[in-house]
Order: sequence, then C-alpha cells, then structure tokens
Amino acid sequence: MLMDRQTTERRAALAPPDDDKRWKIVNVTMRRNGYSGHALIETLHTVQNCFGYLEDRSLRYVAMSLGLPLSKVYGVATFYHLFTLKPQGNHTCVICTGTACYIKGSRELSTAIEDRYSVKPGQTTKDNELSVLSARCIGSCGLAPTVVLDGKVLGQMTPAELIDEIEEVV
Ligand code: FES
Repeated sequence: MLMDRQTTERRAALAPPDDDKRWKIVNVTMRRNGYSGHALIETLHTVQNCFGYLEDRSLRYVAMSLGLPLSKVYGVATFYHLFTLKPQGNHTCVICTGTACYIKGSRELSTAIEDRYSVKPGQTTKDNELSVLSARCIGSCGLAPTVVLDGKVLGQMTPAELIDEIEEVV
C-alpha cells in the first residue's frame, strides 16, 4: 500500500532520540524505504550496526517512524537471534549454531571461546572487549561452520583459527 505524502513527511520529521550522527544513517535506511513498515528488519539491522544493540528508545523511535506498533517491533527484535537488546562489548562474535554449522563443529568453536575468554554465547567478557552471541543460521551454510566477527563473515573456522582471528581484534 502506498503511503500518502503527508504521512511520509510526518514520519520523516520525527526527531531521533538524540543528536547522535548515527541516526542519520538509520534515517537514510528508512527514507530509502519510504518509511514503510516493510523496512523494519533492515532498519533494525542498521540501528544495531550503528549502535551495537537495540535499546528501548531506539525501538520506540523506529516504531514511530515506520508507523508500527511497538509490540511488533519488540517481537521482531527478540525473535531474531542476530538482534540484541543488551549493550555489547567492543567486539562481537556471532557463532552460527544452525544445523550445517553444528554438524561441522560450531560447538567446538563455542568451547574454544569459553576456554580462552570465559564467556558463553549471550555473554560479554568482564573487560567489555568481546561479546559472544549465537544465531540459528546466518545463510552461509556452504561455509560451515561460520562465525560473524565484527560484521565480517568467517567460514570453515577451526577453533584455533577462530581464536587467532579474535586475538587480532580484541
Ligand atoms: S547453519 Fe550456519 S550458516 Fe546456515
């Protein structure tokens, strides 16, 4: 359904939660999609890429800007494992635990991280350097087992290679 121009303009005029420049990037995503509710997932990805996680005020702003009920926005944000509502460490490592990756050894990757950094998926190291998350499938099954480290997809990881990769960034 096409939105009338007034609605689009009204949504575009909503003030972001603060004057952080990163909201401009979020607004570009929403504008490109005409402030349509269909842009929800893409917008949440942008917010998370920019801010590291999805806080309550971000979700409220996105809901208002896209004209969606807050409950729907919360539903999507909590359904997908790649989204997180908690503050993250300086670096994020998402371990895919989907079937293909599980068969190819994602559990060994989690164990290696736990042995080295004492964190399990869903946790952040005490020094706030590394957050570890898990995802059900990130759509790169051919590269299993896959990991996303600071937004970069790493495929066919062995535990030792993964620790090396992490050591390079933390
Ligand atoms: S199961 Fe890991 S990428 Fe699909």
